[in-house]
This record gives sequence, C-alpha cells and structure tokens, in this order.
Amino acid sequence: MDRDRFAEHVAALARLGRLQPPCLAMSPTIIRDKAARCGAGLPGARVFYAVKANDDPEVVRVVAEAGLGFEVGSVSELNEVVHLGVAPERVISSNPIKAPEFIAYAHQHGVRMFTFDSRAEVDKLVKLAPGCEAVVRLAVPNEGSDWPLSGKFGVDFGPAVELLAYAKVRGLNAVGINFHVGSQCTNLQSWDTAIGLAAKLRDEARDIALDFRVLNIGGGYPAQYLKPIPTVDEIEDRIAKALARWFPGGVEVLIEPGRYLVGDAGVFVTRVIGKAQRQDGLWVMIDVGVFNGLAEALGGIRYEFVPLREGRKVRCILAGPSCDGFDVIDREVQMVEPEVGDIVLIRTAGAYTTVYAARFNGFPLPMVKVVEDTMF
Ligand SMILES: Cc1ncc(COP(=O)(O)O)c(C=O)c1O
Repeated sequence: MDRDRFAEHVAALARLGRLQPPCLAMSPTIIRDKAARCGAGLPGARVFYAVKANDDPEVVRVVAEAGLGFEVGSVSELNEVVHLGVAPERVISSNPIKAPEFIAYAHQHGVRMFTFDSRAEVDKLVKLAPGCEAVVRLAVPNEGSDWPLSGKFGVDFGPAVELLAYAKVRGLNAVGINFHVGSQCTNLQSWDTAIGLAAKLRDEARDIALDFRVLNIGGGYPAQYLKPIPTVDEIEDRIAKALARWFPGGVEVLIEPGRYLVGDAGVFVTRVIGKAQRQDGLWVMIDVGVFNGLAEALGGIRYEFVPLREGRKVRCILAGPSCDGFDVIDREVQMVEPEVGDIVLIRTAGAYTTVYAARFNGFPLPMVKVVEDTMF
C-alpha cells in the first residue's frame, strides 16, 4: 500500500460516510512497511518506536506486532506497551530529563536503558534505577531539520565526557552515546557529522575506561510533507558509511524513529465549517486546527490539503475551528476552493498530531481509526 493509494481509499470511505470528520485514518500496512524498512540498511541495528509520535493503542499494537522495540518517556506510554506484553528488554527511555516517578516505575518494570545529560539526572538514576545502563545525550548540529531539538537537550563534547565519568563513578553502567539530528531531517550530512562527533567522544571515553558499546542515533528520519526528502535507503547508506569510517570495530546501533514510522501512514479527514473573504484573502475554517491536532503547524510544519472537489486551485488561508487568533494552520495553501460542509483531507498527518490535541473551546479530539486494507 503506498501513501497515494491509501489517501484515495480514505477519500472513498469519507465520501461514503464511513469515516466521519474529524478523524485520523491510519494505515497499518504503511506502518508495517516502514517498520520493515527502518534499520534494514544497518545490519544488527535495533529499532525502538518513539511512542510520543502517535500513542494510539491500535497503532502501538501494529508496531509491537511488527517486532519493534519502544522508546517511552512517561508512565502512561510505558503502561501502553507493557499491557501489550512487550518484554522490558524491548523498551528504553531516551528523554534526557525524566520525572522521578517515571524512572522508578520503569526500573521496577524492568526497563534497563536510560539517557541523561546532566548531573542531576545521573543522581536520579543512581537513586531510582541503580545499576541501569545509561547513555549520554550529545548535542549535535540540527541544521536541515524542520523540527530542531537542539538547545533543550544534549551537552557538548567536554561536559559529555565529564558526565560519563561521573555516571561511572556513581555506579551506573555508562555504555554509550545518544544523539538526535532533529526531527524531519533532510540533511544527510547531519548524520555523518553526528557519528563523527560520537566517535571522538568514544575515544575520549577510553581514557576513563568506559565500556563503550552503544550508539543510539535517535530519530530524525523524515516523512513526505511538501518538500522532497531522502529515502530511508539513502539515509541508512550514509549512516552505514559513517559507521564504517568512525566505528570500524563495530558498535551496537539503536534507532528511535517516530515521524518516519507513522507520519505517512496518517490522513486527517476534516470538514469545512466556515468561510470568509477578508482583506488578506479567502479564509477557510476546518474542524481540526492547531489546538486539536495540527499543533506542529505553529512550528512551521506544512501539510498537503486535499478538498474532495474538482476545480481550479486558489490561494486559501486555512484556519482551525476555535475562537483564537493563533488557530491558523497555513496562510499560503493552494487548493480547490471548498464549500462549507465539504471534506478536506490532510496528508502525512500520522505523527505529532492527535498526541498534541486538546479539547480547547470544546472542540472534539479527532478519533483515530486504524483502517485495515479489508475495509476497502
Ligand atoms: C528521544 C527521542 N527519540 C526519538 C524521537 C523521535 O524523533 P523523530 O520523530 O524525528 O523520528 C524523539 C522526538 O522528539 C525524541 O525526543
């Protein structure tokens, strides 16, 4: 199932009234396909789905059945995967700053690998997850990523060495490094640079006799929004070359995809609730906005909008349903002018959408519906 065919199927089901807006239709076939591809170019690599991207129980079940592991950051995310019977060895936590209750709960449930990037976090791990495996989050360039994560997380080279030494002295099993090139990364050079930096840190760590064996390369693999993206094969080919260059003796590679795994697998089914011609253009309001599913639009993620109507494309200013001036999704949408009541599909909506949604102003949370091929 490719994403175009899935969008056509979703359109057909919406026309038949079998997918009522607002809802997010998810293709398990696309998720399975992505799960099979991710890591295929990096023999031996283990893949952990970042649950934060889409924590719908059925989506998580599809990922679990595909045999992937999970990256979780909260008690609720952990409970979800535990209830599916996922073994604790298949679960890690890579948020560098975790709530103390969560660390204790995860440790109690057998989660063994955690990330840190501060002394305070090392102290928490020593107390709440004694003897755990710990990796330091290294700050790496995030240029070329549409959703950068640098700044809030990660430490530079010098502090990273000190922290690894500190973790070791405090009795943690400091086993390696974690980095994230930023979400929706289309710059292959970013992985190269990050792996080179990680190798330098490994060399420094030799002086403190660290048992360095883990390299967690985080997420960042992109989904297909409006701009061209590299394929997963191209990304992993580049990563494999960097690993061969910088880690010729081998290293245990962990990958934590979120957006790549579920982004392309989701199509929002929305309805136009109003229109207005104003001085700055034609405004179209739909029943999903930045507060109930499209929060990433505020940070610059741009989606493809597909009204189920033929005609000439015009410029529209697309906005959400709430009575709030920030609820504007995109000011430069080129699409066929829809009428009130029309369905508008939003493509590549499977990641970081419903997980952010709130009931602000009383508008409903979009339902997530996993659409098996048998529904067509
Ligand atoms: C620790 C960690 N791992 C993995 C991910 C997933 O990243 P992406 O969705 O870019 O694949 C994130 C995203 O924020 C993250 O914070």
